[in-house]
Amino acid sequence: EAEPGPGAIPRIKLVLLGDSGVGKSCLVLRYVRGQFDPSSKVTVGAAFMSHSVNLPDGTTVKFEIWDTAGQERYASLAPLYYRGASAAAVVYDISSGESFQKAKHWVSELQKNASGNIAIILVGNKSDLTEQREVTTEAGQEYAERNSMLFIETSAKTAANVAAIFDTVAMKLA
Ligand code: GTP
Ligand code: MG
Repeated sequence: EAEPGPGAIPRIKLVLLGDSGVGKSCLVLRYVRGQFDPSSKVTVGAAFMSHSVNLPDGTTVKFEIWDTAGQERYASLAPLYYRGASAAAVVYDISSGESFQKAKHWVSELQKNASGNIAIILVGNKSDLTEQREVTTEAGQEYAERNSMLFIETSAKTAANVAAIFDTVAMKLA
């Protein structure tokens, strides 16, 4: 006779959006496998990975992560991934003001077309590139606050704050 199974692990569907080259795939690879690939290839279409994580409060959640392609030619596919997502990480590169502008466009698109209660975290990646910084921490923080988003600066290269993206989102949705 079958034993009643344990309670299902809560799942969080999270989509990563942002310009090509900002480091979305590197963030996922760092988070899921603990690795960094300096010669990461551009994503075609989208890539999927799932990862279960024990949160600081002792609960477990399973992230279903959609890593979208940032190249302009794939922009029309994005709704397939952010529709039905409970969280979105909008990523820019702190050494590229242009990628920050692009991130703002993604935020507007999510505000118009995604679920009204989607949790959005703005992620300033490549925080290790201190010499080349074009976007101040304050600029990212202020924009996030004005739009009721979470905010974090990360480095997929050094691993700084990468897990915190997911922990922060999970705590917000808990
Ligand atoms: P698309 O798939 O085209 O949308 O790009 P992407 O956002 O997935 O970029 P990807 O993760 O492939 O990273 C592009 C390049 O940026 C990588 O090959 C790395 O060399 C570099 N990179 C990614 N994250 C970091 C980081 O935190 N610091 C530094 N210095 N370089 C990074
Ligand atoms: Mg990619």
